[in-house]
Amino acid sequence: MSRSFLTGAELTSDELHALLDRAIAMKADPLGARPLTGKTIALLFEKPSTRTRLSFEAGVVELGGHPLILRPGEMQLSRGESVKDTARILSRHVQGVGVRTGPDSLVEELAAEGTIPVINMLTDGHHPCQALADLMTLKERFGRLEGLKLAYVGDGNNVARSLAIVGALAGVEIAVASPEGYTLEPVAGAQLTDDPYEAVAGAQAVYADVWVSMGDEDTADARRAALDAYRLDDALLNAAGPGAIALHCLPAHPGEEITADVLYGERGLSIWDQAENRRHAQKALMELLV
Ligand code: CP
Ligand code: NVA
Repeated sequence: MSRSFLTGAELTSDELHALLDRAIAMKADPLGARPLTGKTIALLFEKPSTRTRLSFEAGVVELGGHPLILRPGEMQLSRGESVKDTARILSRHVQGVGVRTGPDSLVEELAAEGTIPVINMLTDGHHPCQALADLMTLKERFGRLEGLKLAYVGDGNNVARSLAIVGALAGVEIAVASPEGYTLEPVAGAQLTDDPYEAVAGAQAVYADVWVSMGDEDTADARRAALDAYRLDDALLNAAGPGAIALHCLPAHPGEEITADVLYGERGLSIWDQAENRRHAQKALMELLV
């Protein structure tokens, strides 16, 4: 039975720590392991992507494999072929599949009906590969994960949920501050509040994501109004503590969820490491699963 990675909860805490250490080793020696030699990994993008596409495609190549980018309009899935049949056909040709889509049910069904690992490259509910890269970045920056506190400020969305799930597995304390109507449900013991200043107290890292996620464009104005007090700026970072850093999964909207001063300043430097670490963390994940 192949193992999929849909929410992050599939990993044990020990596996997660080993994976992050492996990712850091792979970053130091990008061509040092070729476990995907002779293997093809399909990458299905039903939503736009810059970082995920770049990091998975380049990462599969670095592991010796062939990345096969698939777009929905090019597949019979878009003309009504079932997910079940698609899963069976994928399983006959490739050794793993990454999927970026809306409904979590699609990745769940692919995993249930196929015989190859399915990797969630972002759904409406989860973005676990992002959380792997985020934890790797924290580990590089602070030399440890246990005992760290990360505060997420903004929409209680896929990124917040994955940070809560994967962060808890890693022993990182997660606090999430969101306004009414945009809260995260209780998940993995994350501390939930509507006060961003309460969330960041004692945090080593303060995390922002977009206010308008892919698929939420219809409610963009209401989101910008509700989330206006949840901007990652210097005042919020100052409240977290002198050594606190900013994190952001990107793409960023400077002036909305994060100020340009933070994004491009000293305390935002790790944001660019997060984006790079997507590749290394996902390589360690593919080595484990495929
Ligand atoms: N952070 C992230 O997933 O970026 P993309 O949407 O560009 O892939
Ligand atoms: N929450 C965002 C993350 C983008 C990487 C979205 O789903 O669009």
